[in-house]
Amino acid sequence: MDRTSIHLTSPVGLTTNAAPFIEQAKRDGQLYITQPYELYSEENHTAWRKLYARMLPRWERYANQHFLEGIGSLCLDPERVPRLEDVNRFLGPLTGFQAKAVSGYIPAFLFFNCLRNREFPTTITIRRSDQLDYLPEPDIFHDIAGHVPMHTDKHFAEALVRFGECAHTAADLVSGIRDRETRVHCLTSIIKAMARFFWFTVEFGLMRSRDGLKVYGSGLLSSHGEIAHAIEAPEVQRFPIQLEWAINQAFEIDHYQPLLFIVESFDHLFGLVDQLEAWMKAGKLNNVAPGEPGVNEEDLQSFLNAQRT
Ligand SMILES: [Fe+2]
Repeated sequence: MDRTSIHLTSPVGLTTNAAPFIEQAKRDGQLYITQPYELYSEENHTAWRKLYARMLPRWERYANQHFLEGIGSLCLDPERVPRLEDVNRFLGPLTGFQAKAVSGYIPAFLFFNCLRNREFPTTITIRRSDQLDYLPEPDIFHDIAGHVPMHTDKHFAEALVRFGECAHTAADLVSGIRDRETRVHCLTSIIKAMARFFWFTVEFGLMRSRDGLKVYGSGLLSSHGEIAHAIEAPEVQRFPIQLEWAINQAFEIDHYQPLLFIVESFDHLFGLVDQLEAWMKAGKLNNVAPGEPGVNEEDLQSFLNAQRT
């Protein structure tokens, strides 16, 4: 190994749940970080290469056309973990979206507010190359190969921004509730409804097309096993999306989804986000069905502190 290659990769790496750089950033309270590209190890690049190579034929078969066009316009390198600044150079002129490196979990309001500002909080670590299958926490393959190609599509991007605006509507609405207990109850329910909507559309959505059902949800687009299961498995329930169902439907993250919802188009999706906000204003999200996902104290506080951010 010559001196140059020693400088190009690190033995330490940026591996999911084993990255000292990320642990330090978290200890320092840094949510937003820069991508220290030189820290990726050869093992990290190998994981990216394997993930990309095995997903490509599945995308060609199961992904919606907008995603495939997005993959083309981002010019991702199949061999190496992408640099966010390269991705952003191609992405910015298309929709104004940017991938923004984060150290890990972002409280709900801050996450949604980033979408409103056309920023996508992006994990920079990558799973181990001997554990390529679905993992509950996001990694750079899920975020950059699963989400970001969708952000190249103008209609999808507008729906995401509109969704981000709903978080501000929610924060404004609950700030007008004087009784603290009622305020927390309503806010918990609204965050749950928003998280369920996001899950059943942005993460696990299906879309009708001339060639049959296609995948647009990023949880599916980054999972080699589940993308095929979502379209092919006879036991999966696939139904046209109904907002009242999606916001009251609990979900679990640790196995393949048994229930998926179909949209007609991204204009349809945009209309659903409008409807979500109208229902929020009418108080219809204040008592959604109990169950997953949980809403933690950080999520609640992020909304309650929204005026100050
Ligand atoms: Fe995601």
